[in-house]
Amino acid sequence: MGNEYSLSENDIISMMISPDLSPIGAGGYGKVYTHPAHHNLAIKKSKDEGLCKDWSNEYNIQKEIASYNDLPVGFFSKHSIIVVNPHAFVMVNNTCFLVMDRVCPLGSSSSKEISNIQGKSVHALLGSPSHFMDNKDRGIFLGRKQLNAYLNNLTKIIKELGSFMAYVHYKLGYDANDIEVIIGKDCLKNEINLYILDFGMVGNFTVNGAVSSLSDMEYFPYPVDERMKTSLKMSDEDAEENNKLYDIFKKEYLLTAEKYGKLKEGTMVISEFE
Ligand SMILES: Nc1ncnc2c1ncn2[C@@H]1O[C@H](COP(=O)(O)OP(=O)(O)O)[C@@H](O)[C@H]1O
Ligand SMILES: [Mg+2]
Repeated sequence: MGNEYSLSENDIISMMISPDLSPIGAGGYGKVYTHPAHHNLAIKKSKDEGLCKDWSNEYNIQKEIASYNDLPVGFFSKHSIIVVNPHAFVMVNNTCFLVMDRVCPLGSSSSKEISNIQGKSVHALLGSPSHFMDNKDRGIFLGRKQLNAYLNNLTKIIKELGSFMAYVHYKLGYDANDIEVIIGKDCLKNEINLYILDFGMVGNFTVNGAVSSLSDMEYFPYPVDERMKTSLKMSDEDAEENNKLYDIFKKEYLLTAEKYGKLKEGTMVISEFE
């Protein structure tokens, strides 16, 4: 996104007490706000004072992972996946604030089922054939069927996701635990992308941590065998598509792991995951 950032500590304080401040999301550790004067920024405010040490760590990890945005895209003509760029970590009276680019809401959709998503964060569950869940604070969770209207090259996106996860695991050495995949708009351009955010639980790479990052919330494709198909009551068609997308994801994940000299680790993660 590369938005200009020019907020001082005083600007942040006046924003946080302004009546125009609006909440745009919440999680286990903080609440996220925006303000009309800086509609392209999001400010994550910590819930407890004790969190500031962890949050400065989160800021540094996010900054490092956002280096992904500057990678040459190779055969991707352009990134479809963008890591939300952090701008500042600020502590005011023991409360800490993480200022970052905001992911702006998707516009309206012609689909009835998702016509009420306006203004909410939309989590992209690319591993799930069909999903609709509205969580008051965390936003809306949609599966592929519901996201269909917004995604125009699923194969390319899945490839890039595989490559991104391997970049975090094997180039940067983090586990990518508990990250979120959100679909939304660049606030300054009318352009839909997938965004990666929430680095609060990310730690150093371990095989278990990496396996857990791939199992997180059906954000990523996963293989479906006969038993799983029955227990999930998945149609043959959906199971087939899951497996097709998972193969694309896995191939790219392993190719990228190999590129960073970590094919052995990559293969271990994949076999544990399966
Ligand atoms: N930069 C952002 N732009 C838009 N929405 C955001 C942004 N950051 C977070 N959110 C929304 O706020 C929610 C909570 O933020 P998150 O970083 O996940 O907090 P926590 O660490 O408490 O889980 C997210 O799930 C998302 O819906
Ligand atoms: Mg979260």
